[in-house]
Amino acid sequence: MGTKIAGTGIYLPKEVLTNFDLEKMVETSDEWITTRTGIKERRIAKEESVVEMAKEASLQALEGAGVDAKDIDVVIVATLTPDKRFPSTACLLQAQLGIDKAYAFDLSAACSGFLYALEVADGLLRSGKAEKVLVVGVEKLSEIVDWSDRSTCVLFGDGAGAVVLERSEEESDILASKMYSDGSLWDILYADKCGYIRMKGRELFKVAVRNMEEACREVLKGAGVSPEEISLVIPHQANVRIINSLADKLEIPRDKVFVNIDRYGNTSAASIPIALHEAIEEGKLKRGDLVLMTAMGGGLTWGALLLRY
Ligand code: ACO
Repeated sequence: MGTKIAGTGIYLPKEVLTNFDLEKMVETSDEWITTRTGIKERRIAKEESVVEMAKEASLQALEGAGVDAKDIDVVIVATLTPDKRFPSTACLLQAQLGIDKAYAFDLSAACSGFLYALEVADGLLRSGKAEKVLVVGVEKLSEIVDWSDRSTCVLFGDGAGAVVLERSEEESDILASKMYSDGSLWDILYADKCGYIRMKGRELFKVAVRNMEEACREVLKGAGVSPEEISLVIPHQANVRIINSLADKLEIPRDKVFVNIDRYGNTSAASIPIALHEAIEEGKLKRGDLVLMTAMGGGLTWGALLLRY
């Protein structure tokens, strides 16, 4: 009895903002951004709302799963950039998709939001309280970025990723997971009074590597799986140097770590579902593979989750 990943989908806004475009906006350079972060370009949702991005990603995931939207029991949207303070993005999405018998809610855990949402969905499916759950990570960070602050505006991007999860009689795809938070560290990464992202980058860098490593080790230990058995690591895409440090500490070869930060920047709760979908599409992830996902974000929140895809 457990949870099955039935389908995935993504949506990336049309508009591309390159490092060269940013050179014209703030005192920065493609060279600085590339070497410090691994980012070359990101997508900006100029035309698209958060709900529209979530809808496109969800439709693709539902189609991939062969599931009718009407059969979804629960809709969970992980986001820190909802279109409206209320109702939730999840309720707006429910209406857009014509899901009539589900209940829907947003989940706020910043960059760890998608993993938190998988954790909640897995609990609902395992307990029999739901049969089919739609989980979406979606962000329009371009709206809460201070475009005059070069230390943050180069890092973030917009996009959406969705996953349809089903209750299964077979062995679970989700083998182990562990989520954490430490609210006493809230001021390392937060939205200020005007709603703009503020961050202590250096501090965050160190905490991110340490906490994600610990969470990964805990999850691997709990599942009795060694790092060598992992086919692919899908980390939250915050900074390629964080990702590389994590891989080195876990002694997992870098070619087993999925990276798309060069194209999308940090899309917070959307980053892992976008990467998961692309890894499947690119044939880097096949059924039966062991996948380790890990994230760290504002809160602070962090966690790791082990999948047998
Ligand atoms: N272009 C050029 N120079 C810049 C830029 C920029 N865009 N931004 C900052 N600088 C300058 C600084 O002003 C500083 O100049 P100074 O030495 O004259 O004072 C210098 O570059 C070094 O700045 P640092 O902040 O110390 O640079 P660092 O090597 O730490 O890199 C970065 C900054 C990329 C933000 C890094 O600390 C980082 O990635 N931290 C993790 C934060 C993160 O990923 N946050 C995302 C959300 S949380 C998460 O998902 C884990």
